[in-house]
Parts: sequence; C-alpha cells; structure tokens
Amino acid sequence: MAELAVEVAMIALRPARPGDNPQIAAIWNHEVAETDATTDSEPRDAAAQRAWLERHSPVYPAIVAVAGERVVAFGALAPYRPKPSFAHTVEDSVYVAPGCRGRGLGARVLAELIRLARAAGHHSILARVTAPNARSLSLHRAAGFAQVGVEREVARKRGRWLDVVVMQLVLEPASSVPPPDPDAATEI
Ligand SMILES: CC(C)(COP(=O)(O)OP(=O)(O)OC[C@H]1O[C@@H](n2cnc3c(N)ncnc32)[C@H](O)[C@@H]1OP(=O)(O)O)[C@@H](O)C(=O)NCCC(=O)NCCS
Repeated sequence: MAELAVEVAMIALRPARPGDNPQIAAIWNHEVAETDATTDSEPRDAAAQRAWLERHSPVYPAIVAVAGERVVAFGALAPYRPKPSFAHTVEDSVYVAPGCRGRGLGARVLAELIRLARAAGHHSILARVTAPNARSLSLHRAAGFAQVGVEREVARKRGRWLDVVVMQLVLEPASSVPPPDPDAATEI
C-alpha cells in the first residue's frame, strides 16, 4: 500500500461495515501470505470475509481506521473460547496496512478496542502474538499487557515452527489493586 499521505490525526475510527470487507481482507491476506504475524495460512475469500464481519457485534466489535474511504487499519475482539464461561475473555486483533505503520495507528486501534472491551463488560483481553513479531509485542506491552505464557512451537508456517506469546490485560480494577503497603500506615 502507498505511504500514508494524510495526517494520522485526520484518520477516524468507526465500526466496520460490509463495504469495508474487501479492504479488510486485503490487509489480512497480505499477512497470511507474506508474514508470520498471523498463524493463519489460508487467505480469506469474499464469503469468509463476510462471515468474519457477521460474527462481530457491539460485544465483539470489529472496527476500522479510515482516511476518507480508505481503510488503513482494522481491529477486532473475538471470544477467546466458544464456551459461555469464557464469554468475557476476548482476544484482540490489530492490523495496520503496510505503509501506514509506526505512526501510532496500531496504538489508537488497540486503545479503542480496550475502551470497547470495558464498555461491553469484558474482564480481560488476551493477545496471542507470534514470537518473532517484536512490533506487536511492544505495541501490547505499551498498552499495559503483560506476558502470561509462551506456547512453544504450536504453529508451523512457511517451513518453521512458531512460538506464540500469550499476553493479557486484566480490565477489572479490583484484581490489579496492589496490597496495602504496611510502611505507609499512619499511626493513630
Ligand atoms: C503490529 C502493528 C499492529 C503495530 O501498529 P503500528 O501502527 O505499526 O504501531 P504504532 O506506531 O501504533 O506503535 C505502537 C507501539 O508499538 C511499538 N512499535 C512500533 N513500531 C515498532 C517497531 N518498528 N519495532 C518495535 N516496536 C515498535 C512501540 O511500542 C509503539 O509504542 P510507542 O509509540 O510508545 O513507541 C502493525 O505494525 C501491524 O499491523 N503489523 C502487521 C500485522 C501484525 O503484526 N498485527 C498484530 C498481530 S498479533
């Protein structure tokens, strides 16, 4: 994709619409075919892309960053597991078009997904990042995600085994409140 010719501040975030599907699929399929950013190895055709968007909703949103009609990034939240007990644990996806990266767009999309996850009442967000993807690891770390595990050599793509780093952001403030500091206690 051509270098971003517009100011990043002029880019708007909004829910993804059916008309965005071809551009979302183009961003996604580039990563499927050319990189290890996703463990997926089969491109999404038009029907699969439509089905992807139809699976999303305000509770499991799909959003796009647009410069006018041009989709320059997308992001989504999906249920972590298809079981009721996991309904409030979501997994994020953030994909920025080549040529538009390194300018804060990924961070904006992820921040909006975090806001939407809180609004939907989710409890935590997982990011499952292939180990060579230093940029995505930094993106998530900068947004407050912590590494909670590594799945060793769980995916094989383009002739090599890939580790998947699992990162998590817990959204409920109660679980992140540190225990009281005994030294800070005041004498009565
Ligand atoms: C990963 C991706 C979403 C990041 O989006 P981006 O717009 O390029 O990133 P941003 O400019 O918003 O930067 C966000 C943070 O990422 C990190 N980052 C950005 N560029 C980086 C680079 N070249 N190397 C390492 N970390 C980098 C930094 O921590 C940055 O925070 P900072 O601005 O405080 O330094 C984007 O590069 C992308 O779409 N890559 C291909 C698809 C992909 O890997 N998706 C994630 C799958 S898990």
